[in-house]
Amino acid sequence: MKLGFIGDIVGRPGRKMVKTFVPKLRESEGLDFVVANYENASHGFGLTEKNAKELFAAGIDVMTGGNHTWDKKEIAGLLESMPLLRPANYPEGVPGRGMRIFEVGGETLAVVNIMGHYGMPMVENPFRSAANLVETLRAEGIRHIVMDFHAEATSEKRAMLMMLKDSASVIVGTHTHVGTDDLVIDAGCGYVTDIGLTGCRDNVIGMDAKVPIERFLTGLPGRFDVPDKCRAMLQMIVFELREGRCADAYKVRCYDDGKMEVSLKARVEEAV
Ligand code: FE2
Repeated sequence: MKLGFIGDIVGRPGRKMVKTFVPKLRESEGLDFVVANYENASHGFGLTEKNAKELFAAGIDVMTGGNHTWDKKEIAGLLESMPLLRPANYPEGVPGRGMRIFEVGGETLAVVNIMGHYGMPMVENPFRSAANLVETLRAEGIRHIVMDFHAEATSEKRAMLMMLKDSASVIVGTHTHVGTDDLVIDAGCGYVTDIGLTGCRDNVIGMDAKVPIERFLTGLPGRFDVPDKCRAMLQMIVFELREGRCADAYKVRCYDDGKMEVSLKARVEEAV
């Protein structure tokens, strides 16, 4: 199966890129299933019902969350009524779920959402939660397992790959909004430290640069804002999965001038 993975969709510019390019990418790349991260989709903070419907209508199949999952109050209901995830390592009793199972072209696919530890809200241990979840899925005979590891620290993301590369099909990082160039297939697991944002490619992590600059200059607080106008970009990693392993991976970037390009090919690491 061919899977498209989009990172953090940031505000209206990000949603616009999804609406323009996801239908085209489904066609041009032959995608069977598309995953995206919603936590910054509604003006940079959380997700509204209207925006969720808009993104699903554009061709996204499931959306993952993170530390900003809770920024819009209506999310608790949406987590039940729509194919949305929040990190699996929130404690028991928290609304929503961190894993969903789909049938894609006659095969079973599990999508898992985990949140890191460094700089994140205090939740359950991400590594123990992820290992337990993946082990349970494997015991149930599910081999196609893809994970959005929403984390700040690159070391946590690398450690997750090293720990689960033999049992997970794909592990991608989100949250930092800056795409990294370490796309790799290691022991049959597709991995990148961060897919990078879909939204304003200028400014600062998709937000108007004025506020972060002022915050850095003065140390005073200020609320991030998504600019109305900017140069926008969509970033997607395409993973081809066969029998639970990742056989191929590459990155596509789409720009607001209509240009689409393969910007990165995965390095396939041989066993040592
Ligand atoms: Fe985040």
